[in-house]
Amino acid sequence: MRKRIVAGNWKMNKTAEEALSLVSEIDNMVKDEVNGDVAVVVAPPFPFLQSLGKLTQGNDKMHLAAQNVSEHESGAYTGEVSAAMLKSVGVEYVIIGHSERRMYHHEDAQTLYQKMKTTLAHGMKPIFCCGEPLEERDADRHFDYVGKQLHDSLSYLSNEEFEQVVIAYEPIWAIGTGRTASSQQAQEMHEYIREQIARMFDAEAAYNTSILYGGSCNPANAQELFSQSDVDGGLIGGASLKSRDFTDVIKSI
Ligand code: 13P
Repeated sequence: MRKRIVAGNWKMNKTAEEALSLVSEIDNMVKDEVNGDVAVVVAPPFPFLQSLGKLTQGNDKMHLAAQNVSEHESGAYTGEVSAAMLKSVGVEYVIIGHSERRMYHHEDAQTLYQKMKTTLAHGMKPIFCCGEPLEERDADRHFDYVGKQLHDSLSYLSNEEFEQVVIAYEPIWAIGTGRTASSQQAQEMHEYIREQIARMFDAEAAYNTSILYGGSCNPANAQELFSQSDVDGGLIGGASLKSRDFTDVIKSI
């Protein structure tokens, strides 16, 4: 059965001291309050990965993610961070293709494919993000838009590689806006994504892939979203920056 995952994407927030207290609090709350079978993933900014990795290592339920990775192996790429570096500090998951990176850093489908390849080659699991802008939904083209994002960056992976991939559906109009997708909108897109996986790979891959929902997910709406049959967890932004809120979202699974 596919894994249930709740991942916190901190984006560009927190200082070293704040990061340490947030993860310590989450670690304690997860130990005390979370009984179910769920993988808790935290994705802090790069400078904190190594120190936080030492904390998450002591808790079976907790895992460390990076928010980005270079598509290159190593060399003269000033300011970039490689997959080998991430692996060497205990990173297990890498968020790839977040809409903020597609938008502000012009990451295209080919670059994202290379990022998937290098992440997989170094034994980490990509969390591949997809999701449509508001004008595509309003024009009723959201399925085609997301289908193309999946096809363009994932279809050239082997079945064996794809086994390691987690998908996050994050409609851009729901990110940081307080306007979450309805549970029905999330479910129908997740079902569509699973159908596309079956077409690109096979039915078993579709069944086994964890598909997370992201976009204004919080303690008040998480349970309803997570109760949908094709929603296997969440990728949480704002609500992952407070230990109480994040733990309550985790407990909604
Ligand atoms: P919010 O939960 O703040 O809407 O952010 C979602 C997101 O982009 C997670 O990657």
